Amino acid sequence: MTSIPLTTNQDLDAERLREAFGVFPSGVVAVASEVDGQLVGLAASSFTSVSLDPALVSFSVANTSKTWPSLRQAAHLGVTILADHHGDVCRQLAGPLEHRFDGLAVTTTGDGAVTLDDGLAMFDCTIYNEVEAGDHTIVLLQLHAIEHADTSQPLVFHRSAFGTLADSA
Ligand SMILES: Cc1cc2nc3c(=O)[nH]c(=O)nc-3n(C[C@H](O)[C@H](O)[C@H](O)COP(=O)(O)O)c2cc1C
Repeated sequence: MTSIPLTTNQDLDAERLREAFGVFPSGVVAVASEVDGQLVGLAASSFTSVSLDPALVSFSVANTSKTWPSLRQAAHLGVTILADHHGDVCRQLAGPLEHRFDGLAVTTTGDGAVTLDDGLAMFDCTIYNEVEAGDHTIVLLQLHAIEHADTSQPLVFHRSAFGTLADSA
């Protein structure tokens, strides 16, 4: 096994941190809403489940995000867990704002939560809390409705690349 030696604080530059954080695999979600008749949203790999009672999940959004200030204005937000066939969709949801939802089949609730129709799981959420965390904000979301498929596999983000689960049931 090749290992990289532990380093001092001075070596914690962004590039090395991204590389080290990327060792940890994650799923990817789409966080989206409709605001003033426009679909707004982004891809996020920082999603995690947090609490059962109340039902909470979280994701972290960069403080430089152009989308978050409008996304957070919606009464409800939609979160979609992306499936293994969503690699290109994920790139699109992280790309130019005006094309993020091109060709995507989505459902918008009366409260403005937007979810992808072919997602692995869909959550209807409201913002429970926002916590400042360095150059990101941790957004805690409370769930109000959930829907999930049992068959597909999740999109996996690992070492800056997309993959799939090789041997899960
Ligand atoms: C696989 C993947 C995961 C991402 N995860 C996050 C994330 O957890 N938090 C975040 O703020 N941006 C994340 N991004 C970047 C956003 O999707 C988006 O590109 C970025 O926020 C810039 O767009 P904005 O200014 O509209 O927010 C991710 C992008 C990709 C491709």
